[in-house]
Amino acid sequence: MDVLDLIKTEHRRIETLFSEIESTDKPHKLYDCFNQLFNGLNLYAEVEQQTLYPAIRRHCQDTQELIDAAQQEHHKAKQILEELEYLSPTSREFQQKIADLKDVIQHHVQAEENKLFDQVRECMSQEDREQLGSEFKAVKSKLQRYQVHSQVKRILDFRFYRLQGERGAEPLCRPSNSRADMQTNLLII
Ligand SMILES: [Fe+2]
Repeated sequence: MDVLDLIKTEHRRIETLFSEIESTDKPHKLYDCFNQLFNGLNLYAEVEQQTLYPAIRRHCQDTQELIDAAQQEHHKAKQILEELEYLSPTSREFQQKIADLKDVIQHHVQAEENKLFDQVRECMSQEDREQLGSEFKAVKSKLQRYQVHSQVKRILDFRFYRLQGERGAEPLCRPSNSRADMQTNLLII
């Protein structure tokens, strides 16, 4: 499959998660959607940086500035995600930071789909893009395997979260270090 189509699918999935977060005020749903957004965005950024961007830099000389800007946006998005972890999902600050994150991602997605992808189609053949698509899927599967153990921890996190809520405490998005584990695993690959 063409790598550009795979990435568009990732973009639509992320946009759906933003819509779900915006359309609910239920703490458990917010917590669940944020977990998916956190893992999904970190995975997406990592896979792009390991596969797509190096390939584009090799094949398309005129895209260096666009790739630099895209990488800066990944970095900014990761920073905001880390800040969100220390907030309550029902707080105003959480809503504001989710809006900031959405702005960064919207700009990023538009730049990729409206500018970068056109240039990639000109300098990479369909065959090259399909080969890159296979690499994209393989790296994504490999990185996802490192997330599996944290899935179990997240179920425990969720129970802990509910317990905190029942006791009247204001639970944060990060009730344990499960996501920090995932980040570490991504970094050591
Ligand atoms: Fe990207």
